[in-house]
Amino acid sequence: MANQSSSSSCPILCASFNQDHTCFAIGTRDGFRIFDTNSGRLCYQRFVGGFVIVEMLFSSSLLAIVGAGDKPSLSPRRLCLFNTTTSAALRELNFLTSILAVRMNRQRLVVILQDKAYIYELNSLKILETIDTVPNIKGICAFSTSLDACYLALPASTTKGSALLYNVMDRHLHCEIEAHRSPLVAMILSSNGMYIATASEQGTIIRVHLVSDATKLPDILAASSSSGSVHVFTLAHASQPRLKRSSSILGSIIPDAVSDVLDPAFHHVLHNVVPAGIKSYAVIRKVDNVTDSSTSELLACRAIMSVITYNGQFKEYNLSVDAHNDLTWSLGREFNLLTVTLDKAVIS
Ligand SMILES: *[C@@H]1O[C@H](CO)[C@@H](O)[C@H](O)[C@H]1NC(C)=O
Ligand SMILES: *[C@@H]1O[C@H](CO)[C@@H](O)[C@H](O)[C@H]1NC(C)=O
Ligand SMILES: *[C@@H]1O[C@H](CO)[C@@H](O)[C@H](O)[C@H]1NC(C)=O
Repeated sequence: MANQSSSSSCPILCASFNQDHTCFAIGTRDGFRIFDTNSGRLCYQRFVGGFVIVEMLFSSSLLAIVGAGDKPSLSPRRLCLFNTTTSAALRELNFLTSILAVRMNRQRLVVILQDKAYIYELNSLKILETIDTVPNIKGICAFSTSLDACYLALPASTTKGSALLYNVMDRHLHCEIEAHRSPLVAMILSSNGMYIATASEQGTIIRVHLVSDATKLPDILAASSSSGSVHVFTLAHASQPRLKRSSSILGSIIPDAVSDVLDPAFHHVLHNVVPAGIKSYAVIRKVDNVTDSSTSELLACRAIMSVITYNGQFKEYNLSVDAHNDLTWSLGREFNLLTVTLDKAVIS
C-alpha cells in the first residue's frame, strides 16, 4: 500500500490507504496526516519530522511509522507502533538496515528490508518467520489483508520478473509466479488474495494472475503512470458478456508509461488525470453494480477511483463501465492535502 517517493522535490514522501480504503495516510518532511476518504476530513496530524512509512490498521488507533532519518530519533531503521488516541509510541522494533515496507492485517505485521522479510504476530510482536530474499532495494512486495487468503508476494529474482507467494497465516511457500522477462518494479494483491497484478522494469505490460492456481487470468485494474495518464483495464469483460467479479478491480502503480497491453479493446486511457512526471497512487475503492430493476440484468459497473499525487493533491473520479465495455469517467472532487487544516472539534 505505501509507496515511497523517488522524487525528493515532492512534499509527500509516502501515501497509503488503510485495508478497507476508508482512510488514508500521508507522510511529509514535517510529519504525517490521516484523512477520512469519504469526507476528505483531516482526522489526525503530527509534526515531529519526516516520515517515509505510515501504515494504518483499518480505522484503529494503531499506526506503523518509520522516520525519514532527518534526525536520530526518526531513524529509518526503527519501526514505531504508535497510538493515535494517546499520541504515544506503543512499541519499537530496531533493524540493521532501513525498513523499506511495512504491511499489517489484524493478526500479522510484515516488515520488508533489502534482503529479508520478517513476519510477526501483531499483538505479541513475536517473530514467526524470517524470509531471506533476493536483493530487494526498493522493498517491492504485495500483501493481501484477508485472514482467509493472506499472502505475501516478494521478488524471486533480480534478473527476471518472477515472484514468490507465501501464505502468511499457514506459513508456507504457496507458489512461484513467472510473470515477466525483466525484473519486477511493482506488485499488488487484491485484498481477497485472489489476484496479483505485476509490472516489470520494461513497464509496458501489467499482468494479472489468479493466485489460487497461479495461472494467468486477465481481469480489471487501474494504474497511474508517470506520463500523467491513468490506465484502466477491463479485461474481465473480454470473455463474459456479463460483468463479473467487479469486486476484484485492482488499483496499482507503475513507474513508466504503459504503451502496450494484452488487448487494446479493453484498455482505457484516462488522459491528464495526474500531473506528468509526478508520482501518484491510484486505488479503486468502491464498486457498485447498476442493474435493471425489472429484469435484474447487470447494466454497468460503477467504481470510484481515488488518486493521491505526491505533489499534494487528492482527486476522486467516478468510473462507469457498461456491458459493451465502454468506460466513461468524470472528476467527482479534488482537494489539496497539504492546506487542509484540522477541524478543531477533532483535536478535543
Ligand atoms: C490506544 O490508546 C487508547 C486509550 O488508552 C486505547 O483505548 C487503545 O486500545 C490504544 N490502542 C492500541 C492499538 O493500543
Ligand atoms: C456485481 O455483479 C457480479 C456479477 O453478477 C457479482 O458477482 C458481484 O457480487 C456484484 N457486486 C455487487 C457489489 O453487488
Ligand atoms: C460520483 O459518485 C458519487 C457516489 O456514487 C455521487 O455521489 C456523485 O454525485 C458522483 N459525481 C459525479 C460528478 O458524477
